[in-house]
Amino acid sequence: LERTFSIIKPDATRRNLTGAINATIEKAGLRIVAQKRILLTRAQAETFYGVHKERPFFGELVDFMISEPIVVQVLEGENAVAAYREVMGATNPANAAEGTIRKEFALSVGENSAHGSDSLENAQIEIAQFFAGNEIVG
Ligand code: GTP
Ligand code: MG
Repeated sequence: LERTFSIIKPDATRRNLTGAINATIEKAGLRIVAQKRILLTRAQAETFYGVHKERPFFGELVDFMISEPIVVQVLEGENAVAAYREVMGATNPANAAEGTIRKEFALSVGENSAHGSDSLENAQIEIAQFFAGNEIVG
């Protein structure tokens, strides 16, 4: 089984959608093996999205990610990285397929309710940024 890293983003926690998103995750066959609600520091958000630091929306993205608490999670399942990307749907909810988290819940391309790692390598890096080994119980 594979593990991926997930964030329920501030637009979703603000609207009390943590449980609804978790239900979608679980219905898709992914198991939540670690989870906590945290408020990111600006430095943490800048590190996490460092790959986007030259993008015009970087400042807006960081401001958004620290605007409310987020829920960070480790999800386990078969092909969890790709499977969760599919459950989330396209980055822009306008392009997201029916039944996906972003189609159902996202407000815009920026406020798009969920993050999921885009590769197994990044999943391992992102999980280690937020969870100690003994906080993940598979
Ligand atoms: P993540 O799982 O959050 O990494 O989303 P993604 O992999 O589908 O998209 P990408 O990595 O390209 O972008 C990271 C995040 O930056 C997106 O999820 C959005 O929250 C934000 N973002 C991307 N494009 C735009 C944009 O054009 N405007 C704004 N405001 N935010 C954007
Ligand atoms: Mg991404």
